[in-house]
Amino acid sequence: MKKSVEEHAARFSEKAAGYDDSKSDEYHACASLVVEYADPNPDDVVLDLGAGTGAISLALAPDAERVLARDISEGMMDEGRRKAEERGLANVEFAYGEFREPEVDPGQRIDIVTSNFALHHLGDDEKREAIREMAATGARRIVLGDVAFFEGPDPEAPFYGPEVDDPATVGTLVEAFTAEGFAVTAVERVHDQVAVIVAERLGDRSDGEPGAERSG
Ligand SMILES: C[S@@+](CC[C@H](N)C(=O)[O-])C[C@H]1O[C@@H](n2cnc3c(N)ncnc32)[C@H](O)[C@@H]1O
Repeated sequence: MKKSVEEHAARFSEKAAGYDDSKSDEYHACASLVVEYADPNPDDVVLDLGAGTGAISLALAPDAERVLARDISEGMMDEGRRKAEERGLANVEFAYGEFREPEVDPGQRIDIVTSNFALHHLGDDEKREAIREMAATGARRIVLGDVAFFEGPDPEAPFYGPEVDDPATVGTLVEAFTAEGFAVTAVERVHDQVAVIVAERLGDRSDGEPGAERSG
């Protein structure tokens, strides 16, 4: 990670008020695909990591039982809370949570994990740890949209600030999901540096994890 968690949190809190108005077409395309692939059932609990101002959390809330939105930046989450209230969405809970410590109550069932445009702040070993934590929730599906390289890194590209961002290759992310017992069922190339990866748990979740015994 090129900045500490606290530095990233402060950086995002500073730009939270204008965040939603500053996004690229590729960001919007990526977010739409994450929402589409997440596809929750009405009784599903979704964990959205690096939730920010709620682009994914708020879009999924009408179709899910509950959305747990986790982020490190109170400023970003305040924007998300405000929008949830404006839209009358009472089933979204914004609270502090870091990728590798998402602060989910023990025993809480999680069916789907999502994350959009956030994991690239972590170094590759930290991303693997984060993906291990996502898998440990017991979720049957993980949908990750992020800055990731299909080809070589391009420090000049708009999706990538080398001083703060640390994107992985798509291959590294795919391997991390398969190492945790997931099948990667889709990889969408939004741009040569923006990917959506869909991972489905192999087997029936009957390994005692929170969330076991349900499928769909
Ligand atoms: C570019 S924003 C994306 C927000 C939202 N997912 C979206 O699609 O608009 C990245 C978010 O990741 C959060 N973030 C950065 N590092 C994080 C970490 N280690 N754990 C959890 N969230 C993190 C930031 O606070 C920020 O809100």
